[in-house]
Amino acid sequence: MDDNTFAQPSGELKNRDVLTLLDFTAEEIQMLLDLSEKLKQEQKQNIKNPLLQGKSLGMIFENASTRTRVSFETGMTQLGGHALFLSPRDMQIGRGEPIQDTANVLSRYVDAIMIRTNSHETVEELATHADVPVINALTDLYHPCQALADILTIKEHKGQLNGRKAAFVGDGNNVAHSFLIACAKAGMNASIAVPKGYEPSDKVWQEIKRTAENNKTSLDLTHSPQEAVQDADVIYTDVWASMGFEEEQSKREEAFSGFQIDKSLCSYAKPDFIFMHCLPAHRGEEVAEEIIDGAHSVVYDEAENRLHMQKAILASVIE
Ligand code: CP
Ligand code: NVA
Repeated sequence: MDDNTFAQPSGELKNRDVLTLLDFTAEEIQMLLDLSEKLKQEQKQNIKNPLLQGKSLGMIFENASTRTRVSFETGMTQLGGHALFLSPRDMQIGRGEPIQDTANVLSRYVDAIMIRTNSHETVEELATHADVPVINALTDLYHPCQALADILTIKEHKGQLNGRKAAFVGDGNNVAHSFLIACAKAGMNASIAVPKGYEPSDKVWQEIKRTAENNKTSLDLTHSPQEAVQDADVIYTDVWASMGFEEEQSKREEAFSGFQIDKSLCSYAKPDFIFMHCLPAHRGEEVAEEIIDGAHSVVYDEAENRLHMQKAILASVIE
């Protein structure tokens, strides 16, 4: 195959960090959607696009992962590159080597750094000192790669994003933050229902509100799951106790009672709604088995799209 026929990034996102979708315009998000769709088509046709031949990605995981690790690693391989799994258990960072030195040194070896860690500030610090693009693979505040894969999934199932309504029901957490930002930038209206005390972070909520205003989409925060789900095209939930909050599990189970996505709650949505969850899921807690394993669920397409979207991100930001 002629090189020119391979899917290519436009070049405008070269060397950009991907810390939060707040840093990306609606047009840039659209470019990533377009490229991910093309890369997905190539993958389905078994076309080997060598966009990242000879490039390396360092992947620092301070927390557990199935989807993120495997999709980033295989994504690099599929584009002709290579990924290194870096565990703080084995790295000097785990013994207190400063982020600054880690960032500077890794920049001499690899072409991009991906990191999953609790503190968003750590990722910002890494990005400040690294000479190569830094990709946030989940912090306490954001999960941008997940949200981009989510809107790709909605587009595939609903045909268009503009004017659709998404309902997020559950904890106002990292996944909720990024999903709501992505919805607004994609022209989707959104409603989030949380129990009292589990609202999104104040600071991030102000940014989400501003993003929705700028993109002329509606955005509501309620304590009623039924109200949020009313006429929704998309119902989204995530675990009640994220990584780092495991010791609050039983307290949270009490606080979130009534917030489970089950058949009765879904009856408020549009009849052809889709159900989404970033996974891992807890059946019988935030979602009933009948929904996550039922006809409306697109959770495995959503997980698959992590691969295609992250290939688009990597191909776009790596120089
Ligand atoms: N959704 C997601 O990020 O999954 P992992 O924790 O398995 O990477
Ligand atoms: N909100 C969850 C997402 C896991 C992918 C967490 O932070 O644990």
